[in-house]
Amino acid sequence: MEKEILKIKEEILAKAKKIKDPKFLRDLETKYMGRKGEFTKILRSLSKLNDEDKKKVGRLANTVKREIALVFTELKNTLEGGEKGESFVDVTLPGIKMERGHKHPISLLTSDLEDIFTSMGFMVLDGPELESDFFNFEALNIPKTHPARDMQDTFYIDKPNKNGELDLVMRTQTSPVQIRAMREYGAPLKCVVPGRVFRNEAIDAVHDTTFDQFEGFMIGDDISLCNLIAVLKEMLSGVFKQEVKVRVRPGYFPFVEPGIEVDMSCTICGGSGCPSCKQVGWLEMIGAGMIHPKVLEYGGIDSKKYSGFAFGMGVTRLAMMKYGIDDIRLFNGSDMKFLKQF
Ligand code: DAH
Repeated sequence: MEKEILKIKEEILAKAKKIKDPKFLRDLETKYMGRKGEFTKILRSLSKLNDEDKKKVGRLANTVKREIALVFTELKNTLEGGEKGESFVDVTLPGIKMERGHKHPISLLTSDLEDIFTSMGFMVLDGPELESDFFNFEALNIPKTHPARDMQDTFYIDKPNKNGELDLVMRTQTSPVQIRAMREYGAPLKCVVPGRVFRNEAIDAVHDTTFDQFEGFMIGDDISLCNLIAVLKEMLSGVFKQEVKVRVRPGYFPFVEPGIEVDMSCTICGGSGCPSCKQVGWLEMIGAGMIHPKVLEYGGIDSKKYSGFAFGMGVTRLAMMKYGIDDIRLFNGSDMKFLKQF
């Protein structure tokens, strides 16, 4: 039996070494070493031997089995160019190019904005995307029955609270972080909040259900609209790397009083009128105003002692302007041809 084992070993190895195609090598391995293989059969027949022979021959059989397995692995590695490229490395082949990732245009712009604001002493804050009805609406002076809720229809989470109300919403704006920050830090306060927001929108070239906003607010003694306008001019000039003019119009947002809309001069035509600004020379960019006393109170801040400004804008819209992008759907679309340009 020992002879038989050694003979079949020589036979297998001789055949294996002649093979040039890994497929045939696998076939050969199955033929001899597989479940019904010839070498396996011999191993099985060991059970017929007496105890002493079983031990002796068994030891030999196992050593041979390991030897064969090793030779098969080595041959396979060589023929297949090495499982881990260990046995055979062709150093003359060109290397595999590593793709390098890079920032999404929204992240690029958000980092620029954060730099501009931290240089003015603002904190950068974060808030939850799944927000309570209270922070997203109620504490921002938008009660349940208020028509302003219609402008920001969103996705309600289908899990009623103790009173049977649906009170978890995908936040429609970054403004709820105003209340969270006031409660956490009190006054005086200077913060910006970049973040993703959600609305129940019919998607088209300028509307998406998911987009990015950038919120800012400053609370202290004698804060006025003049401070707001100075900060916004600084921000826009920093983003567009040129002097940007701003224009202020009255606007309505329940959480500010007075409320304003801030337009910026079109950076493409310099204000003379072009298709990007629909020939008016101005672009609607930012909602803002003086924080409503009720909102300060919801945030636990004495509205008789302190005043503050707040503003919010779409980073997505700003990115469209800055990079000349005409379709909002590109931002969340994962089209590498688009993304690779940044
Ligand atoms: N949250 C508003 C929106 O999504 C934007 C906004 C307007 C934010 C005025 C403000 C503000 O902080 O003062 O439409």
